[in-house]
Amino acid sequence: MPKKQKIAIVGATGAVGEEILNVLDELDFPVESILPLASAKSAGSEVEFKGKFYKVKELTDTVFKENCVDIAFFSAGGSVSEKYAKFAVQAGALVIDNTSHFRMQEDVPLVVPECNSEDIKKWKKTGIVANPNCSTIQMVQVLKPLDEAFDLKRVDVSTYQAASGAGKEGMQELVQAMQSFFAFKLDEFEAEVFPYTLALNLIPQIDVFMDNDYTKEELKMINETQKILHKNLEISATCVRVPVLRSHSEAITMHFKKEIDPKKAREILKKAPSIVVVDDTKNKKYPMPLMASDTNETYVGRIRADMYDKTILHLWCVADQIRVGAATNAVRIAQKWLQLEYK
Ligand SMILES: NC(=O)c1ccc[n+]([C@@H]2O[C@H](COP(=O)([O-])OP(=O)(O)OC[C@H]3O[C@@H](n4cnc5c(N)ncnc54)[C@H](OP(=O)(O)O)[C@@H]3O)[C@@H](O)[C@H]2O)c1
Repeated sequence: MPKKQKIAIVGATGAVGEEILNVLDELDFPVESILPLASAKSAGSEVEFKGKFYKVKELTDTVFKENCVDIAFFSAGGSVSEKYAKFAVQAGALVIDNTSHFRMQEDVPLVVPECNSEDIKKWKKTGIVANPNCSTIQMVQVLKPLDEAFDLKRVDVSTYQAASGAGKEGMQELVQAMQSFFAFKLDEFEAEVFPYTLALNLIPQIDVFMDNDYTKEELKMINETQKILHKNLEISATCVRVPVLRSHSEAITMHFKKEIDPKKAREILKKAPSIVVVDDTKNKKYPMPLMASDTNETYVGRIRADMYDKTILHLWCVADQIRVGAATNAVRIAQKWLQLEYK
């Protein structure tokens, strides 16, 4: 039985940080103590874990050492990880980083436990394991078992990403925009978090545009998927922000080397870890954001053959990106790390 862990959560007052607390409780992670950290603004506020309230402390260089932290979850943005992760590592803690800062660093493992849990063993080089982008996680959970069966060669994905992908402020901005609509004042609404008003709209831009006209979010999906699957796949991605509060949806087209049978693919996905197949079109049953929200599973449906090419499969998947795409994946990494360290 692994020893109970002293846990720090950097960004404990944020959308991801709050869910890390919930998931640690739900998955019965062996917790010795909780140290919630945030900026000076939130220091002194409280977070709840297993019915107990904990005072939030300000993040400092020394706080990890002072509290003998074993595992530090970072979810306060890339610049915070860049500056403070090293202090947690120096204090002897494992850092599990939810930001994009370390993901593509060669000596940092980028892990989705259902796909490449063995990579966690490389954590010792830097003391850090990176958690992939939220859209990447749910997609690779689906790609991995199908790749093993049919040998994937190309993926084309379009995403429908919820407002909460931009944190608590993203959710608030969508709610405020909807309130402006009901007050007949949507034309006066000024977006700050998103590039345009999200209410009753779709925005085909997540993060900034790069020189090749893809957005940074799209390149994250492409590069991270290749790193996790250890495969030089051809991938194209179009990432779109939609007026949904929570849970990202994805339409995925997969090109395989072998001919694919949708019935077989359905059976494989039914047995795959952390996947729930909801695919009964006669009864109008398919995954949707409200179905996936507040759960730890990736829902897959609309599984169908291509009408022209027997090596192509299309499907639709939905997952709660704050959980599956961040908090749950991070806690599953911690679980696997404990298993490997204390076996
Ligand atoms: N939301 C998602 O779906 C999602 C999914 C995957 C990954 N991520 C990544 O996870 C990270 C957090 O995202 P989020 O959605 O949880 O954002 P959020 O709701 O805006 O929360 C941000 C958290 O970071 C803290 N913070 C900000 N600046 C800080 C500083 N200088 N020092 C210490 N703490 C600071 C905030 O504390 P205060 O209360 O003090 O401001 C808050 O707790 C981001 O890097 C994001 O890209 C998010």
